[in-house]
Amino acid sequence: MVITPKKIEQIFQNHQTLIVVGGNWGDEGKGKVIDLIMGGYDVVARFSGGANAGHTVYTSSGQKLVSHLIPCGLAQNKVCVLGRGEFFNLELFLKELEESKAVLGNNIADIFIDQQAPLWTPYHRLFEMYIEIMRGERKIGTTNKGIGPLEGMYKLRLAPVVGYLLEKDLLMKSLQVLYNVLKPCLDNVKDQINETIPDPQEILEKLLSDSEKIKAFVTDTAFLLDMELKKGKRILFEGAQATGLDAWWGTYPYVSSGNSVAVGAALGTGLPMEKFGATIMVAKTLPTRVGFGPFPSEMWERQAAMDFAKENQQLFAQGPLRNEFLSSILQKINSGQSSAAEMSQYFQVLGDERGATTGRGRSVGFLDIPWLQYAIRINGPKYIALTRFDMLSGLKSIPVVVGYKHRGQILPVGKLPAAWELSQVEIIKEDWLCFEEDISGISSADKLPKSAQEFLSKLEKHLGVPILLVGTGPGREAMVVRN
Ligand code: IMP
Repeated sequence: MVITPKKIEQIFQNHQTLIVVGGNWGDEGKGKVIDLIMGGYDVVARFSGGANAGHTVYTSSGQKLVSHLIPCGLAQNKVCVLGRGEFFNLELFLKELEESKAVLGNNIADIFIDQQAPLWTPYHRLFEMYIEIMRGERKIGTTNKGIGPLEGMYKLRLAPVVGYLLEKDLLMKSLQVLYNVLKPCLDNVKDQINETIPDPQEILEKLLSDSEKIKAFVTDTAFLLDMELKKGKRILFEGAQATGLDAWWGTYPYVSSGNSVAVGAALGTGLPMEKFGATIMVAKTLPTRVGFGPFPSEMWERQAAMDFAKENQQLFAQGPLRNEFLSSILQKINSGQSSAAEMSQYFQVLGDERGATTGRGRSVGFLDIPWLQYAIRINGPKYIALTRFDMLSGLKSIPVVVGYKHRGQILPVGKLPAAWELSQVEIIKEDWLCFEEDISGISSADKLPKSAQEFLSKLEKHLGVPILLVGTGPGREAMVVRN
């Protein structure tokens, strides 16, 4: 049985379409929220990102499935659409499809890939290495999946698109143009890249040899989605990455390259704005960031946090070592004697904050209300899903960022300085009471301790949007639905 609590179905009943987006810098647990909601939908459509994403979902029999390119809907046998706004990597798609079949069996749901979605080639990955080298200290710290170059090349009208896989001449011509444009750049960094640059013919052969396998999936997905709506089908739009990583509304240039915010659902699927019912924004109680770029509420230093995870992998494994580490720091936090580094390390280990796609350590920040107020302004969500609230279990209190000061002025609600000035804001913190009880796994609102309920109500007042879902642990049922 697919778990879709009755309450959830009732809440979303009136939303024939629903967009799920991330409110922070990714890794908010969008997969878990989608997992819970998608039971009431027929189609799950991706509209942005690419293989840089990583969503974990579970099949109806509880088996784990990690998706990067294919919408999470596959796990629950929903029609899956890879919209035009999603960057398509054929090799990784086929790998993921095989892995999914190993879990789900051969009888999987229908998958459709937009005929004009930008098509990944090895040139995009190599060009990303080139750009990161050229950026020097202003490098982004990308996932190295070629996402930026693919979006960029598309906008420069240089990218092949998925449909060319079925049009050999077009594919060859567009690969040749890409090669002509990129080769001189790649030659410049040959020694640093240390890889041979394949010629277009070589890439063509590899792509064509795989193309037969996806022929049946390629279509005009905008038309298909429109038809599904006309038939009365319900569509869930699965966001990837997050507001802070959106190419236009994130912390540019330290962003990914897609349209990750809610309006991206229209851009990336070709459905008109009026078709979109509501948005649910997923926010992490303690936000995290990987790669580089501003993160106002960050507890420690980015590189130090990333190195800590890399060098202390044994602490992340379940067992006595981890438990001792956590309880000794918790004591310090509760007696007000922990350093910024310890505070960060505690939450990094507690939340196993390591990237699903790259395995890199994530740096952790305090709950950041001004950032969320901005993300709410941009996405216009009707609901908030607050994930990992259980991470505050056992704490007496936690600092919460309640305002930003910029050039001596407190910024109005929803206003941020320019992205290049964001790292200079002065954060205003308040200590908020937490709950010494362990709330892990709680799935009903009235079982939450009073102080946890008060925490949520207070946060809700600041945000001005109902916090509908509250995550209390990694398990499927560890989610509270609030009225
Ligand atoms: P790109 O998407 O590979 O171009 O990387 C750009 C920035 O976005 C880097 O800081 C990445 O670490 C970050 N990023 C991309 N995808 C994700 C994600 O799914 N979760 C968290 N960070 C991401």
